[in-house]
Amino acid sequence: MPAGLLGIEELDRAEIEAILARAKQFQPVQDQSQKKLDTLRGKMIVNLFFEASTRTRTSFEIAAKRLGADAVSIAASGSSVSKGESLVDTLNTLAAMRPNAIVMRHAASGAPHFLARHLAMPIINAGDGTHEHPTQALLDARTILDRRPSLEGLRVAIIGDIAHSRVARSNVYLLSKFGAEIVLCGPASLLPRELAHIAPGVALTNDIREAIRDADVIMMLRVQLERQHEAAFPSGEYFQFYGLRLEHLALAKPDVIVMHPGPINRGRELSSEVADSQRSVILNQVENGVAVRMAVLERVIG
Ligand code: NCD
Repeated sequence: MPAGLLGIEELDRAEIEAILARAKQFQPVQDQSQKKLDTLRGKMIVNLFFEASTRTRTSFEIAAKRLGADAVSIAASGSSVSKGESLVDTLNTLAAMRPNAIVMRHAASGAPHFLARHLAMPIINAGDGTHEHPTQALLDARTILDRRPSLEGLRVAIIGDIAHSRVARSNVYLLSKFGAEIVLCGPASLLPRELAHIAPGVALTNDIREAIRDADVIMMLRVQLERQHEAAFPSGEYFQFYGLRLEHLALAKPDVIVMHPGPINRGRELSSEVADSQRSVILNQVENGVAVRMAVLERVIG
């Protein structure tokens, strides 16, 4: 079966390092000209998004185009999915048009893995349910490594709705492969105890101050209301207990960086002062999203 990219869990360090090194060469700062390349000329990728997306979908499209490929994006709400077509039939229909890869986001954990077994075409996972979001973890690692020599020994606090976050899971897999110390933090209802065992080097706490103390990196997560079937906490209190504010940053390392995969909700996960502060690298993450997805597309279909 052709190799796509389904998750970070199944990648080894060397594969991750190769993608991150290649992504660095695609960064605008390295490549002033930002010329359109022709590495993937004549290739076609289809972006199939069954869930909302701004950053991920756009950056896959821009990445494909910068490499000279053609990209078509389909949102499930405007497709035959809304007419009752099954996932396999939709994918087989798209596969019959012979794209070189399908980038997909789906609300069901494991959907791209299931399809990868049935389609003779590389599938790139752009987020499956609460499971993985591999390109997000790769662009997060690229963003950290632009500011730190290595991931080893870094203290990374991941704070918020851990239970529903594919971003958290992919980051835990990646960071733990490189020897980072990871603290997962959130309200008890959003912090499943079993996550302490998904990878080495993971600790859990319900106390945001404890999570932030001496952190090199603080990753904030959105509360995924769309995945919560009942209220997991009183929403008015969330910011009070788990919202990141300027006063918290004093507990962390002086050069701490603040990350968020977006979309951010100001005044819910973090204050505007933090989001717009010198410590925030949220827009650098977005910028690295294009470079990392170029590296991934090149690896998968180049
Ligand atoms: C994340 C996602 O979709 O998992 N967004 C993204 O891709 N940047 C996080 C989120 O939606 O909160």
